[in-house]
Amino acid sequence: MHEHDIDWAGMAERLITEGEALLPFVTGAAASLAERIAPRRIMDIGAGPGVAACALAQRFPDAEVIAVDGSEQLLERAAERARSMGMRLTTRVAEFPDGFADLPEADLIWTSHVLHHVGDQAAAVRALAGKLHPGGILAIAEGGLTTRFLPRDTGLGRPGLEARIEAAATEWFSRMRAGLPHAADVVEDWPTMLAASGLVEAGSRSYLIDRPAPLHDGFRAFVRSQFVRAAETLAEDLDAEDLATLTTLAGDGQDSIAHRSDVYILAARTVHSAARPQPR
Ligand SMILES: C[S@@+](CC[C@H](N)C(=O)[O-])C[C@H]1O[C@@H](n2cnc3c(N)ncnc32)[C@H](O)[C@@H]1O
Repeated sequence: MHEHDIDWAGMAERLITEGEALLPFVTGAAASLAERIAPRRIMDIGAGPGVAACALAQRFPDAEVIAVDGSEQLLERAAERARSMGMRLTTRVAEFPDGFADLPEADLIWTSHVLHHVGDQAAAVRALAGKLHPGGILAIAEGGLTTRFLPRDTGLGRPGLEARIEAAATEWFSRMRAGLPHAADVVEDWPTMLAASGLVEAGSRSYLIDRPAPLHDGFRAFVRSQFVRAAETLAEDLDAEDLATLTTLAGDGQDSIAHRSDVYILAARTVHSAARPQPR
């Protein structure tokens, strides 16, 4: 199994807990977007199990919201979520890049943490820009600050574990990208890519997610899933001491994420956006 062969459907629960934990960046960005546009149709590209798509449907109740993803199983979860929240949501299976030609145009295209899984990110931005109605906005959530969960010194192993996990995850990310079909190196300057796709008013804004300790069980489950995933994916990148600490944190004991009083969620997520110009 290569880094880029990700079992998305198998990650449904993890994507839901993550989406819910980080939801403030979606609601914050949606509020900023609502000051600029009253969309009739919204597409969430790579919507997964639909946490953001449902938040967008809530923020823009008059819009038709289409959740688009390569995974039919995840879209079933998105539809279930929408039903349980009493939201209207349409789903559409489409795989980047080939399946995107048939998608309709939209006034707001939202895509969060998806384009970095596509080999040619600049081409993906161009393809999405081409699906905007005049005056429509493309909003891309990529980057920000790595989420932190624990104090520097946790009383377990060498202090600074999360900084070393971040460094190892950066290497993993580069390997993942290099293995993608049609992988193309590009400077990850999203506003420049948006402008190069013919869009105007390109800019970026970041949103804070601040959930202080002590966390409730739902958010704790998200943090634990992050440590379990780090232990799975970074086993060869971390030294034995850090891996042992990570395994303890991801386990069930008194020192684990499940029982510690000092676990928090602190993150920033960036949303880059630009508009398709109106014809003169
Ligand atoms: C990291 S998840 C992000 C999910 C959601 N947007 C969020 O921010 O929580 C990436 C999503 O993109 C989808 N995806 C990845 N590569 C894709 C591709 N080439 N075409 C369509 N969907 C893809 C996956 O199925 C998954 O649902």
